[in-house]
Amino acid sequence: MAERGGGFQKALYWFGKCIPGTGFKTWTYLNLIRAPRRALRNASGAFYRIDHIYEVLGEFRDTYEGKYSVLEFGVADGYAFTKKLHAAKYLKMDDRVKVHGFDTFSGLPDVDEASDASLVGGDDWEEGTYHGRYEELQKYCGAKYDNFELHRGLFDETLTDEFLETLLEYKPILIWIDCDLYSSTKAVFDRLIPYIPSGCVIYFDDIYYNFSSRFTGEMRAVHEINRGDFGEGIELVLDRALNWESNRLYRFINLNAKTQHQLKAVRQDGIRFRGDDSPFP
Ligand SMILES: C[S@@+](CC[C@H](N)C(=O)[O-])C[C@H]1O[C@@H](n2cnc3c(N)ncnc32)[C@H](O)[C@@H]1O
Repeated sequence: MAERGGGFQKALYWFGKCIPGTGFKTWTYLNLIRAPRRALRNASGAFYRIDHIYEVLGEFRDTYEGKYSVLEFGVADGYAFTKKLHAAKYLKMDDRVKVHGFDTFSGLPDVDEASDASLVGGDDWEEGTYHGRYEELQKYCGAKYDNFELHRGLFDETLTDEFLETLLEYKPILIWIDCDLYSSTKAVFDRLIPYIPSGCVIYFDDIYYNFSSRFTGEMRAVHEINRGDFGEGIELVLDRALNWESNRLYRFINLNAKTQHQLKAVRQDGIRFRGDDSPFP
């Protein structure tokens, strides 16, 4: 089979022929070919986690009806939390979007399980890391926004039945998992699954921990969900349209959800009438 990129290699071959000396050739290759190629690739595809806050909010504003919630698990000092609040305000959705932040605000809880151990030396999670400033954050957000709630404590304690019932009216559209640990991610899904409608976007901030191995961290939870360990009829489907480079963004599929997103307009008959047969639409 002909190898793709053969033309590029041929051009490289002839270009290389014109450059004197192996050392200069190598310098030219690394600096004038490899570096700009990498920069181009990064500029066009590189993941920036704030992009999809706007994409998801915009999609639900334009396509679906109702009230929504955005849930962040792992808030720390609120760096990404306040960006979500600003996005909702900027997109004029603050009257229909509630942003909830969950955290101990005293840092990571006890990490003892093999399911969270680092597979390389020096990269282990440590209890107490990411200590937040709850009162300051509450004050900062309170002065600028009124569509938010901070839930202080361990996830399995703050995800109360009473809170979960509010999600039937404010349906989740974006769940932001930034709690590092498998045990914490599991605690979230153990409580939340019945309330996550199909189509909700799930963002996993730490999916690349341990090279994205399915044995540890957030990726372990993704693997277990898709293996059926959290129940039948649920699935995490990678959403390449939100970012084609990243493995962090999924759509939740939930055949047994207590709630469902509702399209604004009922789908019309999508028949296409023939044109002039050219490749143009
Ligand atoms: C990496 S930090 C979050 C960073 C934050 N999203 C930001 O934008 O800067 C992880 C946070 O998860 C919280 N956390 C982890 N496991 C938790 C649990 N089981 N219950 C409550 N908070 C938890 C920690 O307290 C910590 O603040």
